[in-house]
Amino acid sequence: MALHRKAETMVDDPIPPLHMIDIIRKKRDGGVLDGREAGYVAAGAADGSIGADQLAAWLMAAWLNGLSLEETRALTMAMRDSGEKFPQGWLGKRAVDKHSSGGVGDKTSFLVAPLAAACGVAVPMISGRALGHTGGTLDKLEAIPGYRTALALGEFEEVLKTCGASIMGQTRELAPADRVLYALRDRTGTVENPGLICASILSKKLAAGLDGLVLDVKTGSGAFLRKSEDTEFLAALMVATAEAAGTRTVALLTDMGQPLGRAAGNWIELAECVELLRGARPAYSEDVRELSLTLAGWMIALGGKAESPHAGYTLAEAALTDGAGLAAFFKMVDAQGGDVSVFDDPAAFHKPGATKVVEAWESGFVAEMDTTALGWAVQRAGAGREKAGEPVDPHAGILFHARRGARVKRGEPLATIYATTAAMLAEPEKILHGAMVIGEEPPERQELIGKIFTRESAEAYLRAANRA
Ligand code: URA
Repeated sequence: MALHRKAETMVDDPIPPLHMIDIIRKKRDGGVLDGREAGYVAAGAADGSIGADQLAAWLMAAWLNGLSLEETRALTMAMRDSGEKFPQGWLGKRAVDKHSSGGVGDKTSFLVAPLAAACGVAVPMISGRALGHTGGTLDKLEAIPGYRTALALGEFEEVLKTCGASIMGQTRELAPADRVLYALRDRTGTVENPGLICASILSKKLAAGLDGLVLDVKTGSGAFLRKSEDTEFLAALMVATAEAAGTRTVALLTDMGQPLGRAAGNWIELAECVELLRGARPAYSEDVRELSLTLAGWMIALGGKAESPHAGYTLAEAALTDGAGLAAFFKMVDAQGGDVSVFDDPAAFHKPGATKVVEAWESGFVAEMDTTALGWAVQRAGAGREKAGEPVDPHAGILFHARRGARVKRGEPLATIYATTAAMLAEPEKILHGAMVIGEEPPERQELIGKIFTRESAEAYLRAANRA
């Protein structure tokens, strides 16, 4: 029979084996990888069967020639499938995460995770450490004595089932291809490519079995990508790619033209969040509160617990006001071994090695804040590390007393630097003097939240950019 004959032909004509050298040459010459080839690269990176030399050559070819939308999708799925992964629905309710592209004082995870959990959404959040000028969620959480960021997958599931939210680091099991490829990209100048960034971020997120994902893509002087067209393209690409994988996704473009909120550091950022979770409403934290409620509103809507992001915002605000968010945060910290008693008196727990108040050197308006430089000032005070694996100082950081546009008088405090040692105060102070411009005119107002991409608008954007 014809069907039988077809099967016989397939047996006689086996699929030809793949060779990494052919895949490198194809990409070098501008070709497009198919799903099988992407799977070969991801599996070979994860199990070590393709060496660093060939992976690095392929990464550079991909960086130079770019990845098509289809190729980005294929690589993302292949990297997601390179290790263990959770199926959707594994927690018995919808799971939604938030990912930020990184910033200075960007502490919304400590608010959105407990607020969404308090509203009935599961939040399996896999976070990272300080990278370049930006702080890391794991480094901040480790300022809490005892908090464990390295959990076995079984423990992660246990915390999620009892607390609704868990924040931990990437494990060796989830998306192992990304661990290998990311380390190589870091060493070969191949980080800044939208397709590679998209596959790297989403492979980890999608392996966690998410039903929904909210992306906070930063723009402005403290963002990794400075040009708005690059930021918009990356946001649209990630939304379209995650949606194609079956995860409802939205991206919000948000302002990183100044540090978010008052604190940038490790412990001091947690203290600022707990103050908000306790219902306080200090003016200097209003942007953190607003952005967190907006992101949580989207998470709650994607998690099926609200009809719309606006209704989700209202639920999140209620959980902030009635203490349900604070209770969820403390429950998660306790379940991961953290000592919640340090939040009884956050100021008493804060013991920086050295403190210096920087005063305004003239009167006028805070006209500009070079937020990348300010991020480096925070890291150099001791909050970040020079080399991978080094410890960070939980108490180092900077409190900003004046926001962009504020009118300041000469001699008024602009910022307080907390450093590990007195000798480590000088560099951040010098950076601060160069990064904060005091002028005669206030700067133009920047919206905290700009464009929002959902599946439809992301696909339309990519079509218009002729990249869909
Ligand atoms: N964060 C990631 O996880 N991957 C990238 O490529 C960039 C930022």
